[in-house]
Amino acid sequence: MITVALFDAKAYDRPSFAHYGALRDVEFRFLETKLNEDTVELARGCDVVCVFVNDTVSAAVIDRLYEYGVKLIALRSAGYNNVDVRAAYGKVHVVHVPAYSPYAVAEHAMALLLTSVRRIHKAYNRTRDFNFSLNGLTGFDLHGKTAGVVGTGKIGRIFIDICRGFGMRVIAYDRFPAEDSGIAYVALDELFQQSDIISLHCPLTDETRHMIDGAAIGKMKKGVVILNTSRGGLIDAEALLEGIKARKIGAACLDVYEEEADIFFEDRSGHILNDELLSRLISMPNVIVTSHQAFLTEEALNNIADTTVNNIRSYFENDGICDNELCYRCGSIERCRKDRKERCF
Ligand code: NAI
Repeated sequence: MITVALFDAKAYDRPSFAHYGALRDVEFRFLETKLNEDTVELARGCDVVCVFVNDTVSAAVIDRLYEYGVKLIALRSAGYNNVDVRAAYGKVHVVHVPAYSPYAVAEHAMALLLTSVRRIHKAYNRTRDFNFSLNGLTGFDLHGKTAGVVGTGKIGRIFIDICRGFGMRVIAYDRFPAEDSGIAYVALDELFQQSDIISLHCPLTDETRHMIDGAAIGKMKKGVVILNTSRGGLIDAEALLEGIKARKIGAACLDVYEEEADIFFEDRSGHILNDELLSRLISMPNVIVTSHQAFLTEEALNNIADTTVNNIRSYFENDGICDNELCYRCGSIERCRKDRKERCF
C-alpha cells in the first residue's frame, strides 16, 4: 500500500480519489490544510504528497519532504508554478496531470465571455426579483469580432475552435507557435492592438508574469474584454483596475487572481475581505469573478484522480519512470526524457 498525504482536500476531491485509490492500492490521507512550511510535518510517514494549485511547494518545503523520505510530489493540476522544480531536482520527483479536461477550461472561458457580453448575470438577478426591464442589458454580437488567444496549447486550441464556431476571427500569440496548425499567429503587441477579446491560456512563468500590465493595456482597443482562466499572475490586477476605471477595458472575466491562494476555494461570506483590490474589482459592474472553477467538471475530477493514481503507481512500479514527470534536468521541464523512458535523476 502506498500512502499519500493529499493536501488542500476539498469535499469534491474525496469520492474520486478514494475510488481510484482503492482500485490500485493507494491510500489517500485527506488533509484540509494547504501544504507549506508550517504544515509540511503532516507529510511525515507518507510516501507521496499530493498537492493542488495553492499549496506552496518551496525549496524549504522540498528539503523537509526529502528529510522525511517522501519520494514523490504528485500535482493534481496541470500548472506547476507553485512548485520549485529546480529545488526538487535531485531530491524529490515531481509529476503532474498534463490534461484532464481542456474542454472544461475552454468552455468555462466561453461561458464567462457570453455571460459578460450578454449580461446574463444581471438578467438572472433581475428576473428572480420579477424585474423584467431590459435597460442596461445591451450586449454585442461575438460574430465577426476578433479573439486574441495567448497560448495555443491544449486549452487555447479548444477555445480557438469554440470561437470559430461563433464566427469570430481568431489571432494568436505563442512563444512556441504550432507548425501547420492553421492558426494565424501575430506578435503579442499586434494581438493587443487588434483584439476585441483577449483570452489567456499560457502558463505563468517569469517571462509571462504581468504580461497584461499598464503598458499592454495601453495598446489595447477601447472596450476590450479580457478573459483569464489561466493563472492570476499573468495580469497586474492594479493595472487592470485602472484600465477599468479609465473605461479602456470593457469587461474582465477572471477565474484566477494573483493573490487567490488564501481566498479562493473557501466560503468567505460573512467575513470582511482583507483584499481591497479584489473587493474593488468584484464591485465593478463589468467584472465577473469565479473562484478557480474552470476545471470543475465531473469528467475533469475523474480524470485528475485516475491520472494521479496512475502517476503514483507508475513511479513506484517502473523504477521511478513516469511519463508525466516534470523534469528540471534538461531545462525544458515538460519535454524532458519522456520519449527515452528515463527518469529526470
Ligand atoms: P499547454 O501546456 O497545453 O499550453 C500552454 C501553451 O502556452 C503552449 O502552447 C506554450 O507554448 C505556450 N506558452 C509557453 N510560454 C509562453 C509565453 N511566454 N507566451 C505565450 N505562450 C506561451 O497548457 P494547457 O493545458 O493549455 O493549460 C494552459 C494553462 O491553463 C495552464 O498553464 C494553467 O495555468 C491553466 N489552467 C487553469 C485551470 C483552471 O481551472 N482555471 C485548469 C487547468 C489549467
